[in-house]
Amino acid sequence: MTDKLIIFDTTLRDGEQSPGASMTRDEKLRIARQLERLKVDVIEAGFAASSNGDFECVQAIANVIKDSTICSLSRANDRDIARAAEALKGAASGRIHTFIATSPLHMEKKLRMTPDEVFEQARLAVRFARNQMGNVEFSAEDGYRSEIDFLARVCEAVINEGATTINIPDTVGYAIPELYGQFLKTLREKVPNSDKAVWSVHCHNDLGMAVANSLAGVKIGGARQIECTINGLGERAGNCSLEEIVMAVKTRRDYFGLDVGIDTSQIVPASRMVSQTTGFVVQPNKAVVGANAFAHASGIHQDGVLKARDTYEIMRAEDVGWSANKIVLGKLSGRNAFKQRLQELGVVLESEGEIMAAFAKFKELADRKSEIFDEDILALVSDESVTAEKEQYGFVSLSQHSETGEMPHAQIVFTVDGREVRGESDGNGPVDASLKAIESHVKSGAEMVLYSVNAISGSTESQGEVTVRLQNSGRVVNGVGADPDIVVASAKAYLSALNKLHSKADRVAAQG
Ligand code: KIV
Ligand code: ZN
Repeated sequence: MTDKLIIFDTTLRDGEQSPGASMTRDEKLRIARQLERLKVDVIEAGFAASSNGDFECVQAIANVIKDSTICSLSRANDRDIARAAEALKGAASGRIHTFIATSPLHMEKKLRMTPDEVFEQARLAVRFARNQMGNVEFSAEDGYRSEIDFLARVCEAVINEGATTINIPDTVGYAIPELYGQFLKTLREKVPNSDKAVWSVHCHNDLGMAVANSLAGVKIGGARQIECTINGLGERAGNCSLEEIVMAVKTRRDYFGLDVGIDTSQIVPASRMVSQTTGFVVQPNKAVVGANAFAHASGIHQDGVLKARDTYEIMRAEDVGWSANKIVLGKLSGRNAFKQRLQELGVVLESEGEIMAAFAKFKELADRKSEIFDEDILALVSDESVTAEKEQYGFVSLSQHSETGEMPHAQIVFTVDGREVRGESDGNGPVDASLKAIESHVKSGAEMVLYSVNAISGSTESQGEVTVRLQNSGRVVNGVGADPDIVVASAKAYLSALNKLHSKADRVAAQG
């Protein structure tokens, strides 16, 4: 058995299934590049058969990422698998990940199939996938709630058909660490050819135990692949968090005895990128990547850390990519320095026009804000007005008046398909007035289900980053906007959410 633990990142597939976390192709590419810098072993880039958009994302990522294996999810049918294989054609190293549910509940109520039918479909799907590609993962969806002897039969059959990785998900986050670890151990003992495949864990966090369950799957169950997401992003309570898994295995190597290939200094940049792109804010006390994860507030702790770091610190902040906020660019920086910083941050703007638009925004920001940090640059390029020509709505200008005792009033100018329009409105506060001014023209009928403001780099001089989540006709989207003026940031976020709401997505849900 190898002593390497394979890190399989599914931020772009399972993470993206989180309502409101959907990303554009360019955003996914940027995150994929960061995952490559992080030295993730496998990147699950999407679910190619679910929509043309997802197919194009998987294809684009497969074409540019060379150091990580690129994987596409597919249901256990020939059409999905062929689509995944097609999207992965350009990959230096590709993997087809096919799945079918094996628990009595899912087979009977969701699939309406008998166990024998599921067994046969799993076997044939893996056979078909192996004819397309040498690297095939099979997942037994809701595996942990499956009947163990049936699951063992399925695993044995798909390994005989050539599956190289077997993944046993705790799809609904029901497991308890010791029980999950034992389940996997017993399962592997029941599968005669278990040594012919790498065993993998995939845990959801509904009871807050995804990381603990995954680690038990490794320690007790003998798994050598963990499926996880940056910041634990994912549906409901999310997936197992990559940063926690990696730092647990590294910090407690004495206990786990396993190596991970991750470049941990890229963890915090990856966390920030995913948070800024999706608008899912990281809680301050989140392990490893939360703003307070290395902050010692009490006098006793501070005193101890000053005398000897290891009195209260088990990891070093710099090892996971925390750095003192450094000024990276200023108003005198030229276009080349800006371009180079974008490259270092993994941002690829495809056309000269996009680079020019981003640089113009950078100059405009540098005029208003003396210190520009990496976070500002990332916020600036995730602001969709950089690529405004592709979007339906674009921000132009805003003026608003508010005074104690008076009703705030806002006037906004924005573009609709390139044409300038104006809107104005009163509101409860300046933000409310500005968003109502947009709605006075757009009349989207969308319901706002989340509004949050975050300071990008910590002080009142920082840019405000606003996340707006809108819901309409069953679709939930997030818009993110950044600006030193939080009312403007709010308007940008609102327009960005409207752009996503109006883009047609025809996705098929992976969970059936
Ligand atoms: O949670 C789950 O079961 C999954 C599978 C599709 C791998 O995400
Ligand atoms: Zn999942």
